[in-house]
Amino acid sequence: MKVAVLDHTATLGGAELALARTLEALPATAPELSVVLFAEGPLAARLRRAGLRVGVLPLREEVSETTRHEAGGAIAALRGGLAVTPFALRLARLLRAEGVDVVYTTSLKSDLIGLVAARLAGAKLVWHIHDRISEDYLPAPVARMLRRLARRAPDLVIANSYATAATISGAQRLRVIHPGLTPEQIGPAPRAGDSTRTTAPVVGLVGRISPTKGQLELVRAAPAILEAHPTTRFRLIGEPMFGAQAYADEVIAEAQRLGVADRIEVTGFIEAITAEMASLTVCVHASPTPEPFGQVVAEAMAQGTPVVATKAGGVPEIFDDPEADGPLGWLVEPGDVHGLAEAVVDALSNPAEGSERAVRAWESVTRRFPISETARLLNEAWWETVNVSLSERGGG
Ligand code: GLC
Repeated sequence: MKVAVLDHTATLGGAELALARTLEALPATAPELSVVLFAEGPLAARLRRAGLRVGVLPLREEVSETTRHEAGGAIAALRGGLAVTPFALRLARLLRAEGVDVVYTTSLKSDLIGLVAARLAGAKLVWHIHDRISEDYLPAPVARMLRRLARRAPDLVIANSYATAATISGAQRLRVIHPGLTPEQIGPAPRAGDSTRTTAPVVGLVGRISPTKGQLELVRAAPAILEAHPTTRFRLIGEPMFGAQAYADEVIAEAQRLGVADRIEVTGFIEAITAEMASLTVCVHASPTPEPFGQVVAEAMAQGTPVVATKAGGVPEIFDDPEADGPLGWLVEPGDVHGLAEAVVDALSNPAEGSERAVRAWESVTRRFPISETARLLNEAWWETVNVSLSERGGG
């Protein structure tokens, strides 16, 4: 069997990181893969390093660069549709020439283009959805169209969380596969009492600087946190992407207005992110909009760092472990600055409790989200799509 993996971008966003981690962890029974990206970039380099065959079929810049929110409107959709038609035809020819059996798409733009190309090439289609298909996340007409298509068009839809799946609940063939943690993302098991801290607390938020990630909320919570713990330092770990510079400026202006700017460092992109997470006293996930899954939450837990996170989207699934004998961290209402400050203060004021929760969280996420399981389920999904169960195939 041959599977073609399609993504419109080669920028390493959350979905692309999840894709790379999963492809790198596929079992020996995996089909023959070829990756087709619609742009050159770091994802292409990373997958090539992992020994995968990666081709780049460049999509016209103006189509691939539209952000989710600019993509709205019937006219824009029509214009976009017309612009990509020749591209979809070229892609279909390529897929047919390669004898591809399954087209596997991992971004919304590749879902749509891949749908046309897969049908023309006579291949099965698997959508892997990493975005909530909802109006608070996408322009309404785009969300409606995607929901309608998700219902019938693909042979299988995979969602990265039950929260994401709920946004396309009408889909006929739908299953959830959570993103997984690679061995490199898992730090040594923390022990209760580990964090009897002697140095000043460091509170960090990991993620690109964007209104959807809630850096502004953390800055607004900073004065109350500093009142209780005056030596606290804050780190905003990430950089503005996809035109979010204005928001980054707003975050800094707000910090200045609140008189906390000297306590807050915007680090920019940090390559050694696991070490950075491990060094935080508390890791905050402040997304005011529901996060489809929230890999950084699981990743911080896998580093043994206490986590305060907003309770929306896929994040509660990370926190919800029936086998755990207590909370895995702190959950707060999205957008609630006061609640966020309170939870961070609570975590900083009770390091013993923080470390107990961190121990539990580490045990829980490493048990529930290993990358090997994500890869196993994805492999199974591909084979099932062509109606071959792995046992029938004989595991060779
Ligand atoms: C997207 C989502 C994020 C999720 C990731 C992996 O980036 O926004 O919530 O963790 O995909 O599925």
